This record gives sequence, C-alpha cells and structure tokens, in this order.
Amino acid sequence: MLKVTLAGVLILGLAAPVRAQTVTATATIDTSSPGAEIDRHIYGQFSEHLGTGIYGGIWVGEDSKIPNIHGYRTDVVEALKKIHVPVVRWPGGCFADLYNWRDGIGPRAKRPTRINVHWGGVIDDNSFGTHEFMNFAELIGADPYVSINVGSLAPYDAAQWVEYMTSDEKASLANERRKNGRTKPWQLKFLGIGNETWGCGGNMSGETSAAVNARYSTFVNAPASMGMIKVASGGSFNRNEGDFEAFTEAMMKGGGRMQALSAHYYAMPALHAPKKPATGFNESEWAEELDYALQMEPYVSRTAAVMDKYDPDKKVAIYVDEWGSWYLQEPGSHPGFLYQQNTLRDAEVAALTLNIFHRHTDRVKMAAIAQMINVLQAMILTDGPKMLLTPTYHVFDMYQPFMGATPFAAHVSTPNYSFGGKTMPMVDVSAARGKDGKLYLALVNTDPNKAVHLVTNLPGAGKGQILTGPAMDSHNTFTAPNAIHPVAFSGTSENGKAAFDLPARSVAVVAVQ
Ligand code: AHR
Repeated sequence: MLKVTLAGVLILGLAAPVRAQTVTATATIDTSSPGAEIDRHIYGQFSEHLGTGIYGGIWVGEDSKIPNIHGYRTDVVEALKKIHVPVVRWPGGCFADLYNWRDGIGPRAKRPTRINVHWGGVIDDNSFGTHEFMNFAELIGADPYVSINVGSLAPYDAAQWVEYMTSDEKASLANERRKNGRTKPWQLKFLGIGNETWGCGGNMSGETSAAVNARYSTFVNAPASMGMIKVASGGSFNRNEGDFEAFTEAMMKGGGRMQALSAHYYAMPALHAPKKPATGFNESEWAEELDYALQMEPYVSRTAAVMDKYDPDKKVAIYVDEWGSWYLQEPGSHPGFLYQQNTLRDAEVAALTLNIFHRHTDRVKMAAIAQMINVLQAMILTDGPKMLLTPTYHVFDMYQPFMGATPFAAHVSTPNYSFGGKTMPMVDVSAARGKDGKLYLALVNTDPNKAVHLVTNLPGAGKGQILTGPAMDSHNTFTAPNAIHPVAFSGTSENGKAAFDLPARSVAVVAVQ
C-alpha cells in the first residue's frame, strides 16, 4: 500500500494483512571479519560513440537550444553529479579500435567526419573528442578511463595520445594541447589497452592478445606521478563456455606487467539466440533475465580462480568494464543504436550485480555499466530536450553509501524463487559499514509476486529507501518520467533486531542503527 504524506513523500506502508501472506527469511551479518573495501570505482559507467549515447545524450554543442554547460546537457550533468560517478570509460567499446584521436582535436569546424562502422554506419563529426571527453569527466567529478586503439593503429599513436593528454613538458604534443585550449595536463587515471581483443578489437587468440598487451603497455606511458593504471583487455562470459578461462590464462601468462584485467559480461541470451524485449515481458523472461544477471557470480569467481594461479597476492585487479542487460532494441529506434527501455527488472539486475561485486572486493576494483545514456542498460534516457532517470539510475543513487564501504558477509536463509525452470534465492543481501560509520544493507526481493519478511541479527531498526513498482516492467517514460522512483522505507525492531517487510519485486537500501 502506497501512502502519500503531507510533505508529498511516498511512504511504503505495510499493513499487518500483507505480513500474513508473506514468507520469512533471515540474514545473519558477520561483522567480525570485514572484507576489502568496496572500491567506489565499481560504480563506474561506460560511454561509447554509439547511437545517442554521446551525441544528444551528453553533448548537444554550445549553440543548442537545450540548456547546456559549454555544450554538455545541463540536466544530464546535474543528474550524474548527484550520483558521484567515479569513473567514465570512453570512446569504446568496439568503436575504440577504429578511432584515431587526431580526428577529435583542434577547432571543431575543421575536424574530419568519419563513418561509425560499428554502430549504424552514421557519420561522426568528431565534435566530441579528447578535450570534450576529458573536460566532461572533470565537470562531473569522475576519473577518465580512455581505451586506446590497439586493433588498427600502432603503439606510437597511442603513446602520442597519452603524451598529449598528460604531459606538462615544453614539447610539441603538450604545446599542441595548450594551443587547443588546455593548459594543464589532465589527470588520466585509467588507460585501456584495447577492447575485446578476442572479437571486435582484432579477433585475436589469447596468446596474441597477451603479446599485444605486453607491447602496447611497454610504449604507452603517462608521467609516473600520475599513477595511471593500465588495463589489459580480458575475456567475456558471453563467448563460448570456458573460452574466457583459457583467455584469462593466456593473458596472465604472457600479458607482461599487468595492473588490471578487464572482463565483460552482458545479462542476455546465449550468443546468436534471439534477444528479448525490454518491456512487456512475461514472468519467464523476468526469471530468465535475473538468472543471467546472477551468472556474474560464477564468471567472476572462475576468472579470479585462474588469476589466483599466477597472482596469488591478488595484485592484478578485475575490472568488469562492460556489464548490464542487453535486449532487443526499441521498435522504431535506429538499427545499430542499441536503444532499450529500462524497467524495475533492470533495477534488480543492477542491484544483484552490485551485490556480487561487493562479495569480490579482493579482486573486483572497478566496473562500468554499459552504458551511461541511451544505450543498453542506460542510467539516463533522453529524447531531444527531454530527459528521464531510469530505475537503474535510482539503484546507483540508493547504493551510494556503499562507495568506499567495508563489506561484511551476509548469511541468508531464504526461500527460493522459481519460475520457468529458473531457481534463485528470493532474498539477496549485501552488508557494509559506510564511510559515515553506519551499517548499510542492500536488500533485493527477486520474487515478482510475493512479499518476504526478513529478520536480521542486527540490533536496532533500519530505514532508508525502496524501489518497487506495480508491474515487473514498471518504467519511466518521457510523459511519465517519475513513474518509478525510490520512496522512504522503514523496517521494524523485532525482539530488538532489525526486520523488514520487503514487497515483491523490490530493491531497498537501509541504514541500521
Ligand atoms: O556496449 C556495446 C558493445 O558491446 C561494445 O562496443 C563492445 O565492447 C561490446 O561487445
């Protein structure tokens, strides 16, 4: 039952009769053995030259009628600042391995136009290039993560690009940057050495990819004081079963000195199987999609197990720098733009995935959802001057206390949710001590039909916010942009312990005190 208070805030009121129909679960949080800190960079986002992810989504240009800050949409910048995006990955994806950084510098009117071969064959006028990206990252307070082209350009080109961005010397490349309007070097925190080298990044074997990584990472450097982290291009769980393990093994053996290895996984049907719609789906598709999302757990565990053989001290991090749901693109949208709606189901995909990352903080130190705006599991959708925040955005917003928090194991005893041959725990719990000293719980009820009464071992009571909706595919539209949003949520104290009535199909984040 939803109640509206005098202040206009929606409160989720859970009357006793609801409890009578619910099932029960327990969560025991073990605060005695904290895990490694949840790196805030796992809340990163990916933004590629793809569809309207950048052009229209971030960048409208200084002369646009859409309110903007030096060409960047004001509404989008404000929304991203609110959730403290820690890192943005650019320019691709597949796009990166056909991108020449020289196309995107200098006066915009003089930049060449290029065909975006990977994504719809549209013309990219290069008005969003290095300066526009690096300044955008600075504007929203995120660390930039730039992926270099190892597929179709030489190490020398990438070395020059990095020098252009990061050097403070009185040498030609830094002087050229100064002439183009940027005096100080940018702080380039992360450098991707290619993207999906096993596929669109060059169709290489693991051994060839390893050699490419060793070679490019030798020659492409920023000043040591910048502490730039180089990210080798790793495997994907969407490839044939087991391929990623052999690929990881090859990279760990022959990839040279490595600080991080990327991993990609999309919650979607097997390669070449038909994709499903983002809205209007049935319960089988709800269960199937959540089951895909939960496969992130074996993927990360199995990748980590291979890495453990070569790196028992866990010096090389896993960066899951592409993840999210992948559906059929919206009917009528441009072929190749990967524009899809985003529903309560995607909120659950996001929450379950983030909870998995919280359980692997020893290895998973960065992640980037694909993608930031208008592409795949987007945080934000835009349509001309209109903009809406998706349920996935709201999950990232609610999860902010987990950035930099210290995780604890949660032992959950829960009924299963089963449908259409898929079975998963009905309740998923992540627990951590936030930087503000409070103990936070992220709670997910995967069952789209049943509420659950969850009792914890934590003294006190909890309150925070919850995201749910009247249907499995509840979502925001440009005519109803606020149809689904977080509302205030309170638990109770039961025999001195925090307890919660989680409605069906819900994600909650609460502080317990
Ligand atoms: O995110 C869309 C595409 O998916 C990326 O360009 C590529 O890296 C991946 O296959």
